[in-house]
Amino acid sequence: MNEISKIVEQGYNRIAEDYYSHRNLNKFNNELAEFASLLSIDAHVLDVGCGAGIPTAKFLTERGIKVTGIDLSEKMLSLARKNVPSAEFIKMDMNKLEFNESTFDGIVSVYSLFHVPKEKHSEIFKKFYKILKPGGNLLINTGVSESEGTSNFFGVPMFWSNFSPKTTLNLVKEAGFSIIFEGVLERGGELQYWIYGKKN
Ligand SMILES: C[S@@+](CC[C@H](N)C(=O)[O-])C[C@H]1O[C@@H](n2cnc3c(N)ncnc32)[C@H](O)[C@@H]1O
Repeated sequence: MNEISKIVEQGYNRIAEDYYSHRNLNKFNNELAEFASLLSIDAHVLDVGCGAGIPTAKFLTERGIKVTGIDLSEKMLSLARKNVPSAEFIKMDMNKLEFNESTFDGIVSVYSLFHVPKEKHSEIFKKFYKILKPGGNLLINTGVSESEGTSNFFGVPMFWSNFSPKTTLNLVKEAGFSIIFEGVLERGGELQYWIYGKKN
């Protein structure tokens, strides 16, 4: 595991309960509803950086969608297993996704890509494309300005990394995705850059 993944994993293992208890659990329900409307009822979705399983895994499983969540942090995963017993949760680094080509109908990676060095984003988008089935849907978000570094988050050092929206959009397109929607949205008092993409 690389040094950055270690900082993020150790950080979330220490702050899992605190982070989760402060999470605004409804702030992007509209985006999840929009995403769910793109999927068939027997869809299988990968939730990348699933955290405590709420809102994404819970929201989707309640609509009959099968969810596999992956996360670096065992503490976050154990909250997720309690919160959403019907989903499957696996410890895995999004830098090393171990799934076969054309496995998923959808991939969601929200509020998690910004913990991965931006130099890795292109590779990750290409891997997302590969493990989605043709016609599969992608939902991601990132920060709104180019930045990289470590800051204090709930009392622990946390790593953050973002390209500008323009660069992120180009990388997602270069990975092969067509774009259904892209734009900066304010949710829970915070700006994030959102992309809905489709594998052709
Ligand atoms: C800010 S939390 C968001 C969790 C969830 N997506 C949500 O919306 O509540 C970020 C999560 O991403 C996970 N994460 C960060 N880097 C990761 C990586 N390289 N691979 C897998 N999970 C990662 C963290 O452990 C943490 O649980």
